[in-house]
Amino acid sequence: MSVHGTSRPVSVHDVRAFKDRGERFAVLTAYDYLTAQILDEAGVPVLLVGDSLGMVVLGYDSTVPVTVEEMLHHTRAVSRGAKRAMVVGDMPFGSYQASIEDGIRNAVRFLQEGAATAVKVEGAGPVVDLTSRLTHMGVPVMAHIGLTPQSVNQLGGFKVQGRSDAAADRLVEDAVSLAQAGAFAVVVEAVPADVGRRITQAVDVPTIGIGAGPQTDGQVLVVSDMVGLTAGRLPRFVKPYADLRQVMTDAVKSFSAEVASGDYPDPEHSY
Ligand code: KIV
Repeated sequence: MSVHGTSRPVSVHDVRAFKDRGERFAVLTAYDYLTAQILDEAGVPVLLVGDSLGMVVLGYDSTVPVTVEEMLHHTRAVSRGAKRAMVVGDMPFGSYQASIEDGIRNAVRFLQEGAATAVKVEGAGPVVDLTSRLTHMGVPVMAHIGLTPQSVNQLGGFKVQGRSDAAADRLVEDAVSLAQAGAFAVVVEAVPADVGRRITQAVDVPTIGIGAGPQTDGQVLVVSDMVGLTAGRLPRFVKPYADLRQVMTDAVKSFSAEVASGDYPDPEHSY
């Protein structure tokens, strides 16, 4: 049964079924109640409260400073706005790296306090064990490999990953390990399209690409990039589907001009 057209909440089984049916699906980030409502009503099945929150909403230079408290605050807001879409809370840097126990405690907070259905964690290696522990406990995990922005300092910048044969092979192996550990989906960020294809063929759970070419099972974008709200240069993989920054600027200028001229408020907008 397609989840499109039904009103029950999207489950991890629905997400896995997209791949089984060969149905491509869209994922978007959301950070607030209003945007979550719009995306949910538009039929987006999965909303990711990404730690890109740090850069998009809080004005940080990277995702590294984002805290669990900040993420939970916004995850709760998105959960209130999403009636049907699955809400995935992104575990921020420092919330799962020190120990599996830390990771479990913080992941549980995303489900209990953030009302998320699942959490996302970046990387492989020790994260494979964490994924296994969480999924055995009943916490669905979305994995994230390729460019993992929380490791920007280790990676030396926001760079395309998996360019060499060895690095590409390692990414395929990481994806397989994470899927075997129980991840219900794998985000694959900033890798050559052929590597996105190889990873997608190697795992039986959906891959969700962001700058990973056209052959991943799903595609995710940062919502403010996709609707044209973000200022400045965007990564190559971003396609702006609207220019809301211009729409908003024009609206604000019209409002200011009408206030200055006395045209607003007119009798229609007065008691
Ligand atoms: O933080 C984020 O928004 C993300 C996605 C863009 C995959 O990790």
